[in-house]
Amino acid sequence: MPAEPQVRVFASPEHLFRAGAERFCSIGSQAIRERGRFAVALSGGSTPRGLYEELVRDFSSQLPWQNVFFFWSDERHVPPSDPESNYRMANETLLSRLSIPSDHIFRIPAEIPNAGAAAQAYEQTLREVFRPAPGSFPRFDLILLGMGPDGHTASLFPGTTALEEKQHWVVANWVEKFSTFRITFTYPVLNCAASVMFLISGGDKAAMVGRALKDSASNLPCQGVKPVDGELNWFLDQAAAAKL
Ligand code: 6PG
Repeated sequence: MPAEPQVRVFASPEHLFRAGAERFCSIGSQAIRERGRFAVALSGGSTPRGLYEELVRDFSSQLPWQNVFFFWSDERHVPPSDPESNYRMANETLLSRLSIPSDHIFRIPAEIPNAGAAAQAYEQTLREVFRPAPGSFPRFDLILLGMGPDGHTASLFPGTTALEEKQHWVVANWVEKFSTFRITFTYPVLNCAASVMFLISGGDKAAMVGRALKDSASNLPCQGVKPVDGELNWFLDQAAAAKL
């Protein structure tokens, strides 16, 4: 059965990031105990910065970080040195602060000029690391996601072609409003995860959070995330939950 959202509301962004860090580490510890590794896909945007900083500040001894494998659920079509790069933000606030073996960091090669080729290259990387049975999808232990004010998640934006993708794991998605491609996981990968955690902060998201969690007919991109055999957490701060 597709998972129903488990919603938790926290008093402040600080409480939200602390709870997110605790959940990150408890899922990670269990995955490493059971499978020797923790495969996690990081989200982009600005909200996760608070989580990454919290992990470094208070949770650096909570996980054997050499057993954590890092991926991204989406990326902007820019090189890793670009200020817009999701990889760059995570590297500056998390990865470079913890002793992560470089061969456990699988960033999206978004510097490749052809966005479609970048998506294909990343799918090939996932195939080599996960080696799932033919016809099945990679199962992440945890996928972190955010939500935009328009209800997009990862780089699955309203009205874009990637929303319909059923086969490919990673695609280049043209986003008209930004006149650019984004490289993003598709729903089959998001919904194959053992755990998905939305981390959403701020009053500017309240209206869309309200629609996403109370109006199933809204058909928002974030509503398409329902792990088929996993858990779905919506971690919100009070401002983001104001319309619930
Ligand atoms: C990206 C993201 C995107 C993000 C939302 C929320 O690359 O931008 O993956 O889906 O999570 O846009 O962004 P903020 O956290 O900045 O509000």
